[in-house]
Amino acid sequence: MIIPNPELLSDARFEVKYLDSHQTDAREGEDVIRGLTSSPKTLPPKYFYDSKGSELFERICQLPEYYLTRTETAIITAACEEIVTITGVCELIELGSGNSQKTRLFLSAYESLGKPWRYIPIDVSRETLYYSALKLCHDYPLLSILGLVGTIEQALLQLPPSCHKRMLIFLGSTLGNFTPDETEEFLRLLRQILNPGDYFLLGIDLQKPIDIVEKAYNDNQGVTAAFNLNILSHLNWRFEGNFDLSLFKHQAVYNFEKHQIEMYLQATESHKVRLNKLNLEISFDEGEKILTEISRKFNLQNMITLLAKYDLNTVKFWTDKDNWFALILSQLKATNLC
Ligand code: AVJ
Repeated sequence: MIIPNPELLSDARFEVKYLDSHQTDAREGEDVIRGLTSSPKTLPPKYFYDSKGSELFERICQLPEYYLTRTETAIITAACEEIVTITGVCELIELGSGNSQKTRLFLSAYESLGKPWRYIPIDVSRETLYYSALKLCHDYPLLSILGLVGTIEQALLQLPPSCHKRMLIFLGSTLGNFTPDETEEFLRLLRQILNPGDYFLLGIDLQKPIDIVEKAYNDNQGVTAAFNLNILSHLNWRFEGNFDLSLFKHQAVYNFEKHQIEMYLQATESHKVRLNKLNLEISFDEGEKILTEISRKFNLQNMITLLAKYDLNTVKFWTDKDNWFALILSQLKATNLC
């Protein structure tokens, strides 16, 4: 896939920019070094999403076992008009926008208000972001789009200020990838970048019978396994590595105490791997695992309480009939301080 330099392709309604990586990462790949030299070994889930990984994730969303996307889409379909009525016209910012498929429901509802507005999708995968934004621009003639290529952390630190009313959306239970500490740090930054009165719309996967959750991460066709293993291919090209994918196998298990899926890559034999660009050599024992992702499953009331701790007051929430997934609309408390 050949993609022109996004900077060269901007018109009045469409622009794609890179977020500055130097402000946040001490050095590119520092997080990979830290993760692979710690014990147990870990990798940041953002490395799943090269263009191949983003494609695999889109296939996951279609799997019969992966109930998350389907359930959330049904909730949004039922709730989007009400959400648009409550929030009114505003700038829409999306963290981890992927193919923006679910966001189209909001864009259509906003468009029926007949006013121009702006959509700011943010994603680590440049190709996915670029093509989704281009298609949206075509399909929504009133929309102007500013795509930002970068991580969620970069977005929170560098989002351009605005005097418009904003709604920041974070769907798909991507928040579940953060540890409890990281979640609080995320909310702390969020409170800083939103203006009083701005909205935050959050989609979260709820606690439910474990077999349903485990199946969603161990699908029959092996797409999740391919998605998990692809993180190693991504590291190979990005950091000149020599991971042999055939020496690792996918594992996803539910951790009862922490209410989270833990996804691992387990080495099937002892061996060494080099990542030349990072000047790193790592040894694996037979059976040793890399934790590539946690996917937390939440309690709705606890989340509402946590949001309130960061001045995000819940305006309304929606769930599906089985209470598998929730969408929470919150608003940053207006302060008297200026
Ligand atoms: C995009 C982070 C929400 O945790 O369910 C899907 C990623 N991992 N299958 C999730 C994922 C394995 C997904 N999130």
